[in-house]
Amino acid sequence: MIVDLRSDTVTRPTPGMRSAMANAEVGDDVFGEDPTVNALEARVATLLGKEEGLFVPTGTMANQIAIRCQTEPGDEILLEADAHPFHYEAGAAAVISGVTIRLLQGVRGVLDPELVRQAVRPPNVHHAPARLFCVENTANRGGGTVISADHVARLCSVAREAGLSCHLDGARLWNAAAATKTALLPHAAPFDTVSVCFSKGLGAPVGSMLVGPRPLMTRARRFRKMLGGGMRQVGILAAACDYALDHNLPLLVEDHRRARTLWQALGDQGWAVEQAPESNMVYFRAPDAPALAARLESRGVRCLALGWDRIRLVTHLDVTDAGVDHALGVFATAREST
Ligand SMILES: Cc1ncc(COP(=O)(O)O)c(C=O)c1O
Repeated sequence: MIVDLRSDTVTRPTPGMRSAMANAEVGDDVFGEDPTVNALEARVATLLGKEEGLFVPTGTMANQIAIRCQTEPGDEILLEADAHPFHYEAGAAAVISGVTIRLLQGVRGVLDPELVRQAVRPPNVHHAPARLFCVENTANRGGGTVISADHVARLCSVAREAGLSCHLDGARLWNAAAATKTALLPHAAPFDTVSVCFSKGLGAPVGSMLVGPRPLMTRARRFRKMLGGGMRQVGILAAACDYALDHNLPLLVEDHRRARTLWQALGDQGWAVEQAPESNMVYFRAPDAPALAARLESRGVRCLALGWDRIRLVTHLDVTDAGVDHALGVFATAREST
């Protein structure tokens, strides 16, 4: 048995999802004629309380279009120090938008509003003007941390007072809503733009969405084209995302339960687990993490070494209770031999 705990992006589409894809009604989406894409864009925009949605292939493209739409070259954007666009988007913000990135240190991916207030410098000829403030929820490198809707509202209100636009990287916003048993709406409300992914916990093979006010989304559509993200009969993929919303969204709580089980048992086995998981991620510290990951993989458990001393485990649709039990057996054996 192989249990792949590296990421929630490793899921494979189920027969039901594949069938929805095969039967999707399609048209040329660059002409705005794909009914399945149009319906998904409207559905997600409504779910997140925004005027319009734009279907894009990846979360990276969604974030980068959001940054490009709301800045001009030479502007500054404010991100938490562990944010995805800084760590994992290949330096795209510098190339595509020509912006400088100002990193603010949070705790487990969560910023203090006062820090944001102090970070925005008054207009001065020496400064790159700060234009956009981004939040990531859940905060991936922060440990899958869930940021409450109230805290997010406080952060955005400080940013807005300073004249900044606000973007939410909600690749796993579904998990934040599931964990807090709340609707998506209050989590999205304080932001101008929100990106969400269907290819993580929701189990679709491809697909993300950027939502926001109509004039911004018109601009976003142009930048999507510029980046080569205008796709044609892409309803085949949108159908998978639509299926994921109907069938897989309610299952996220199971991923969260399994993450908690893993965390508890790993702690009991003596692994240096970080804080209790708030969503579907478990992090622990281990010396020479890459070597440990290689040893675990040789015994059928795949996990991600982040740097030299940190391991990440992520639960998802393809990890069952039996998979968790199996993984824990392998961890127990590995622990005895360390
Ligand atoms: C928080 C966050 N934002 C954005 C992305 C980018 O998504 P994609 O891999 O679809 O480009 C990821 C990917 O894991 C992510 O974790």
